[in-house]
Amino acid sequence: MKKGIASGHRPQWNTHIGFLLAAVGSAIGLGNIWRFPYLCYKNGGGAFLIPYFLALVIVGIPFMILEIGLGHRMRGSAPASCAGASTRWEWLGWWQVIFVMFGIVLYYSVIVAWSFYYLLLSFGLDWGADPNSFFFNDFLMISKGPFEVGNMRLPILFSLAVVWFLNWFIVFRGVVKGLERANKLFMPLLFLLILILVGWSINLPGSSEGISVYLKPDFEKLKDMRVWIDAVSQIFFSLSLGFGILIAYASYLPKKSEIVKDSVIISIANCSFSLIAGLGIFSVLGYMAHKLSLPIDKVVSKSIGLAFVVFPKAIGMLPAFSQLFGVLFFGCLLIAGLSSSVSILEAFTSSAIDKFHYSRKTVVSLLAIAGFIGSTIFATQGGLFWLDIVDHFLTQYGLVLGGILECILIGWIYKAYVLRGHINSFSQLKLFSWWDYSVKIVIPVTLAVILMNGFLKEVTSPYEGYPWPALALIGVGWVIFTLFFAIFVAARPWKDY
Ligand code: ALA
Repeated sequence: MKKGIASGHRPQWNTHIGFLLAAVGSAIGLGNIWRFPYLCYKNGGGAFLIPYFLALVIVGIPFMILEIGLGHRMRGSAPASCAGASTRWEWLGWWQVIFVMFGIVLYYSVIVAWSFYYLLLSFGLDWGADPNSFFFNDFLMISKGPFEVGNMRLPILFSLAVVWFLNWFIVFRGVVKGLERANKLFMPLLFLLILILVGWSINLPGSSEGISVYLKPDFEKLKDMRVWIDAVSQIFFSLSLGFGILIAYASYLPKKSEIVKDSVIISIANCSFSLIAGLGIFSVLGYMAHKLSLPIDKVVSKSIGLAFVVFPKAIGMLPAFSQLFGVLFFGCLLIAGLSSSVSILEAFTSSAIDKFHYSRKTVVSLLAIAGFIGSTIFATQGGLFWLDIVDHFLTQYGLVLGGILECILIGWIYKAYVLRGHINSFSQLKLFSWWDYSVKIVIPVTLAVILMNGFLKEVTSPYEGYPWPALALIGVGWVIFTLFFAIFVAARPWKDY
């Protein structure tokens, strides 16, 4: 184990359910509510569930076992655990937590901030009769492109300050009093809210047409490689794999832990939540299509458009209690987003504490300030363009590349069977040798196919038609900058007690 890891001082989850809820809280996020239902609809409806569940079983669960097993074995954050597996690989753990902390969470918090602001707007349905124009022209005041940053949007900045304060507050209070307590409140509340929303939505007129469009299988779509790639990428992002989060969370587990069983429970809870959220989303879309006498494909939209344009419109059309529906919907987005953003903050905090022994309070306070300042670029008039580009590059390349390298490190260098031996010595549910092949070959090859495919597409048709210099500067630049930053931090000496 890496010299300097504070094994003796390491916090520990107070209860097992506390760990499970925190891990589920990290997994369930914005991606479950707006990304999954749209992907399912676009990629063959019910037929998409085949690649989705195959990706869950072949990539998702085995990779989660790897991350939880690794954090548990090394009792350290991602960099400490990578260093524990091989001292030369510490940079990989740093790279993961750095590009998630100084990349993904910066724009992720901005979307959580929009959700908070829309929650406030819901009380008066203040987006008015044209939510599309409201969102782009009044709320974002969107500029012409990424290089026209424009002014800071004050409503977003204000909401962002609230979100970063909450991020700070929860992580500052520590593993048990902060993360565990917050998730013990957030997760039951989120499940309750989503059940109310879905129960409400499926009773609206037209909902059954919406659900049938969502789930009607179109097996022809499965011939398209893109559908399979979407399934694996969604599983990866949705389960928070390759973020360094699960490694840190598992390092706070007691010695006797059921790693395999826990991984299965967390994955199933996350995927069931997505399926249920999809029922609600498509019921509302069905209702809207019914009211406007339009086919569903004319009202459906993806991600940001779905949550901040289509949904506000649908909410305004509800026969009764529209405001309440709005508060519940944006409340769900806010809670799901917060429980994921705090987990990202914890992944970095835990790394800095492990290596440099800084106090949690100092690390979290500095991180929250840096995070708030870093997020402000996405709160400008050009912020949506930046958000789109950074998200595309970090999730398509950063996460996937980090995942491949993690498999090489554990599968080939540390040796998968060694970690399996550790996991099996505590788990009643045993891992068989197929898991070694999965970590050594199946997962990295699958991720490599995604990476290559994305790269080829990038070269033949640049992302969203942006000119290459723009992409290279913002997207690729971000990935490379975080890599150098990681190598620099990894080269610093470990502080001893
Ligand atoms: N797993 C989180 C989400 O799906 C990051 O949004």
